[in-house]
Amino acid sequence: MSSPFQGARPAPAPRHIAIIMDGNGRWAARRGLPRAAGHREGVLAVRRTIEAAIGHGVEWLTLFAFSSENWRRPIEEVTDLTFLLRHYLRAELRELAEAGVRLHVIGERDRFGPSLQAELAEAEARTAANRKLNLVIALSYGARAEIATAARRIAAAVAAGALDPAAIDETLFATHLATAGMPDPDLVIRTSGEQRLSNFLLWQAAYAELVFDEALWPDFGAANLGQAIAEYARRERRFGARPEPVPPPAAGAGG
Ligand code: IPE
Ligand code: IPE
Ligand code: MG
Repeated sequence: MSSPFQGARPAPAPRHIAIIMDGNGRWAARRGLPRAAGHREGVLAVRRTIEAAIGHGVEWLTLFAFSSENWRRPIEEVTDLTFLLRHYLRAELRELAEAGVRLHVIGERDRFGPSLQAELAEAEARTAANRKLNLVIALSYGARAEIATAARRIAAAVAAGALDPAAIDETLFATHLATAGMPDPDLVIRTSGEQRLSNFLLWQAAYAELVFDEALWPDFGAANLGQAIAEYARRERRFGARPEPVPPPAAGAGG
């Protein structure tokens, strides 16, 4: 669709936003509460963010909920987090499904118990026909492990004589990642003021715009998402090419 404003080129809204939801522990600590309280409050921010993303017409929203490295936390915290996840699925699935959300899970799901794995698979199957928003939950996800797994699968195909090494390019490689078939994130947001990726979507975020928000995740909401999208709209994405040349003056102008 062409813009009615000659020459004005509003930046397209991000099609895929990925969020590193950080700061639950600090949110709780500041209130003298246990970390679990911060995680619980974080679930409310997830709800607000999904709603706001739908409002902005975002097609894909990826939420980093638990990293491969988060298994290093004390067992009590890991248990709290898996409990919350299960509770979230049970409490919100119907509403998500009715809102047209399709759920996808990426990460090492086999590191969770069989019943949680079954619930995840069930949630994905139940929402598979939905098209309004693709919600990707990254669970026990780590980009280096994901890339190593892809390399192993490709090597196995080569060893089996099913794949010519000359056919391995970026496109083929990406089909072996957990995110196969998903668009790359346009915008990666991290909350809590930390400015690092912590092993999140290292391949996929190669050209993502990064926005760091000082808000702790439980305080994140529609306004924060709106600000991040506005910031994204001000960025110029070049993908290594030259910046867009300034359009020439209209014919007849000047000498
Ligand atoms: C993010 O909050 C949630 C997870 C990593 C699971 P944190 O638990 O990392 O909170 P901080 O960073 O300690 O404040
Ligand atoms: C990143 O946060 C992982 C998630 C938000 C799920 P962390 O709190 O685990 O990251 P680091 O340890 O501060 O890098
Ligand atoms: Mg953290």
